[in-house]
Amino acid sequence: MSKMFHFPTRVMMHVGAIRALPAELDVRGMRHVLLVTDRNLAAANDLPNKVAALLGPRCAAVYDGVVSEPTLDHVQEGHRLTRNAVVDGIVSVGGGSVIDCAKGIAATMRAKTSLKPGGASFFLEGPAPSHFAIPTTAGSGSEVSAAAMLFDPASGRKSLYFDPYITPRMAILDAELTVSMPPKLTATAGLDALCHSVEALVSKSATPFSNALAHESMGVIIENLSVCCEDGGNVKAREAMLIAASMAGAAFVNAGLGIIHSLAHAIGAVTNMPHGTLCGALLPHCVRFNVAREPESCAPVAHAMGIDTSHLGPRMACEAASAAVDRLVEKLGLPTKLRDVGVKREDFPRIAELALVDPCLKTNPRAITRADELLPLMESAY
Ligand SMILES: [Fe+2]
Repeated sequence: MSKMFHFPTRVMMHVGAIRALPAELDVRGMRHVLLVTDRNLAAANDLPNKVAALLGPRCAAVYDGVVSEPTLDHVQEGHRLTRNAVVDGIVSVGGGSVIDCAKGIAATMRAKTSLKPGGASFFLEGPAPSHFAIPTTAGSGSEVSAAAMLFDPASGRKSLYFDPYITPRMAILDAELTVSMPPKLTATAGLDALCHSVEALVSKSATPFSNALAHESMGVIIENLSVCCEDGGNVKAREAMLIAASMAGAAFVNAGLGIIHSLAHAIGAVTNMPHGTLCGALLPHCVRFNVAREPESCAPVAHAMGIDTSHLGPRMACEAASAAVDRLVEKLGLPTKLRDVGVKREDFPRIAELALVDPCLKTNPRAITRADELLPLMESAY
């Protein structure tokens, strides 16, 4: 398995960084941008309108139709706006769904043809138009990643589109933009980021570069996630989470993910539950599942979580890490079992089949070759 580390995104990370947006666009000669956002965000805090005002005449068109699970149809709708106006770049403002949809639009602009259903890797022949991502949640890490998850309604599957050419050129991490996120969204997004750190750290393709980012971000998330949920206005904790989520994103896009994400993508296609909720519910069960066959695999997780592992063997260290995550998810008031996230036992075979072909499974520390190997894991998580 080849190992590499690639990081093309320039990251600004300070309160008020959003105000630098017009100057940064001008430096890159981006004079006519498509603003991609979601109208729920506009209704909640007016941020998209503020960004549009900041852009001024640089804002050539606005696409605000993104929903929590963006589809290939949303990408097409957004792309259509770029055909009727001169557009030389994209600014996205929102959570991971908005940023993923913006990547899909940028890729379509470059490819000059709609994205192929079913996902694709390294599918562009050159850079997509420049994309500045402004995340309003600390979670997906999409603002620094080369990946976009898009749902194909025709096949009922979430598909991965991966290409370094769709990595945003700039990420603006302004913690002030995240303070109005409600506690539940803060919690689910944060658990997604935590799973990125965990899976990148134990991945078969991990490198010292990705490990440093995964290890550091995991500790920061464990320390700050519940603070952000209890005290949303705590800008220091919000900033720590926002930066950690991007670090986790940079780690996983290079190292890959694992079984938590394979199952979360599969269950998300079946139940439509938020990705972060599924990740949080699956995390402890998946760590235990990996450790049962690969006892050493998850030991770094306990260490990164700040657990004293000096008197513990690898299995006990992993059990301590799993129990700590269980407690965190419970404290955040989110489900810890599959039965509580809309999964029915009769869905297990279909979920297992979908998870088996999910690309994230390739880098999981415990090798899985048959769908039925996943059934006991789902039973234990039920
Ligand atoms: Fe994720």
